[in-house]
Amino acid sequence: MHGPSPRPASFSAPGPLRGSTGVPGDKSISHRSLMLSALAVGESRVEGLLTGEDVLATAAALRAMGADIVRESGADDVWRIHGVGVGGLLQPEAALDMGNSGTSTRLLMGLIASHAITATFIGDASLSKRPMNRVIEPLSLMGAEVTPSPGGRLPLMLRGLCPAVPIEYRLPVASAQVKSAVLLAGLNTPGITRVIEPIATRDHSERMLRGFGAELTVEQDADGARIISIRGEAELKPQHIVVPGDPSSAAFPVVAALLVPGSEITVTNVGLNPTRAALFDVLRTMGGDISFINTREVGGEPVADIVVRHSVLKGIETPVETVASMVDEYPVLFVAAALAEGRTVARGLEELRVKESDRIAVMAEGLRAIGARVEELEDGLIIDGTGGDRLAGGATIAARLDHRIAMSFAVAGLVSKAAVTIDDMGPVATSFPGFDALMTGLGATVA
Ligand code: S3P
Repeated sequence: MHGPSPRPASFSAPGPLRGSTGVPGDKSISHRSLMLSALAVGESRVEGLLTGEDVLATAAALRAMGADIVRESGADDVWRIHGVGVGGLLQPEAALDMGNSGTSTRLLMGLIASHAITATFIGDASLSKRPMNRVIEPLSLMGAEVTPSPGGRLPLMLRGLCPAVPIEYRLPVASAQVKSAVLLAGLNTPGITRVIEPIATRDHSERMLRGFGAELTVEQDADGARIISIRGEAELKPQHIVVPGDPSSAAFPVVAALLVPGSEITVTNVGLNPTRAALFDVLRTMGGDISFINTREVGGEPVADIVVRHSVLKGIETPVETVASMVDEYPVLFVAAALAEGRTVARGLEELRVKESDRIAVMAEGLRAIGARVEELEDGLIIDGTGGDRLAGGATIAARLDHRIAMSFAVAGLVSKAAVTIDDMGPVATSFPGFDALMTGLGATVA
């Protein structure tokens, strides 16, 4: 996990951003590729795995439960995994340290829920504030016994049940993590486990479970809800997975190039799964010059290179239907809105309050500190943009153990009169190792 001493940095841009760059592997796909490989019988190979701290926390937990996971020597992002078979996870000897990672925590709780294992989950100060009742509820219905800290938080102890009880569960909150936790628990549960999803969330779990050979179907009911059914006690076959670049990471250089006058950049090999890519549609609606080239399919996921040119953006009302398809991208979208012409109204964002930080409050406070006009609502923000004029900048922003807050204000620094300082860039290593170097390579100044 990132070191105890904070790593402050100041961001500015002396001129336009130029060049071509890749971004690290997709975080969601990386977690899932390790988990499913750990449950397959035989050796899987994963290329392009994100080696961020969140994914390394998943790897460490799976190792502690018997999977053999090694990084191929000489090839940074190629990993080999020997799985234990569905139902074959072993009792870990020590607490599982999830660091900053909500995805590791909630998905692994699902995996363990249908094993005869008792595990303790611990995490950092940010993760220990996040709600776990959303997974505790369905997993308890399946037979797991969970003892959380007050408020349904970490540290918590989970005692799985084998065989677990198959359930049909309608998601009360649009969450891919909750959906995935139930599906992963269902993998080792006799019969059919079913999740009903009224609002579509990222579907990497469904795609990958099928790819590993699980029997999984997706239907739609009369109201358009997705009904996902998985047959348990499946046998997973090892795979060769190629992880595309993370669209949630690409969002930072993309918005930076839109905002810094004269910029033109290409971000290569970005995953554009429709349940993830709504940010790029919204930015285009705002007038952003964004095009996709070399569109192709990699490992069952759509991928393209993204070409971005500086654009004068216009404020909009952000669509509520696609909140889940860009849920992690709002912080950097707020920065774009702060530079747009006119007003942006973004609502339906109550989930942002329970991410790595309260992203509505923290963005409102930080944007105001660098001179933006922002009104905070219970479920979103209203932002009156500068019309392209630079923000005042000059402030130091508290990142609050939230990687996306840190990177969003780094982008804001590139379009401010005085550099913006982030008090601690340490958390960026959870999802985007090499962020500072990548931005410097495009023309930003990091001090
Ligand atoms: C994720 C789902 C989202 C997202 C998180 C990754 C996943 O969380 O914010 O960064 O990989 O399933 P929720 O399911 O809580 O919306």
